[in-house]
Amino acid sequence: MDKYTQLHKLKDDMEKDDLLPLKKGASKLVFGSGNTKASILCIGEGPGRTEDATGLPFVGQAGKLLDKLLLLAGLERKKVFITNIVHHRPPENRDPLPGEISAYGKYLDKIIEIINPRVVITLGRYSMAKFLPDVFISGVHGKKFDIKWKGKNIIVIPMYHPAASLRNGKVLEAEKADFVQLGEILSKMKTA
Ligand code: URA
Repeated sequence: MDKYTQLHKLKDDMEKDDLLPLKKGASKLVFGSGNTKASILCIGEGPGRTEDATGLPFVGQAGKLLDKLLLLAGLERKKVFITNIVHHRPPENRDPLPGEISAYGKYLDKIIEIINPRVVITLGRYSMAKFLPDVFISGVHGKKFDIKWKGKNIIVIPMYHPAASLRNGKVLEAEKADFVQLGEILSKMKTA
């Protein structure tokens, strides 16, 4: 089964799972979207209002900024796959709770296994904590971490959440610099 078919099957399973804790309050499942053959996977936090209405990740204001940031790294959105830590919108856009993160985590793990990315870009502290539990984002944003995840070597690059950059000009400047540097990291990887 190719990746596209596997992801569709997983999405169908997720749609049918009534035990997912945020399902009742949400309009749509936001499974993820993008290039199913991508070697770069971006993981955000959770859907906001526009994502809940459309079923697509990062299509609101934070998503528009993410598109621009990706371009700074020489990446078009269609070259990456984008998903979230939780796939239904938390009420009032609150932060996801630990039990919610673990309930959606079993599906996220499968998305990661299917995409099998070389590079994971985490957006915000929740997705960062999945791979780098003991760090603070202020100390590590934009840095490259070679880690083993479920027996596979992956590179994790933690970034600030674009919504944080929309709120704070200093964070935005740091994030822009991080994405320019990401472009350099990615071109070095290509020539290595
Ligand atoms: N913020 C996120 O973390 N994910 C989205 O899909 C949209 C906004």
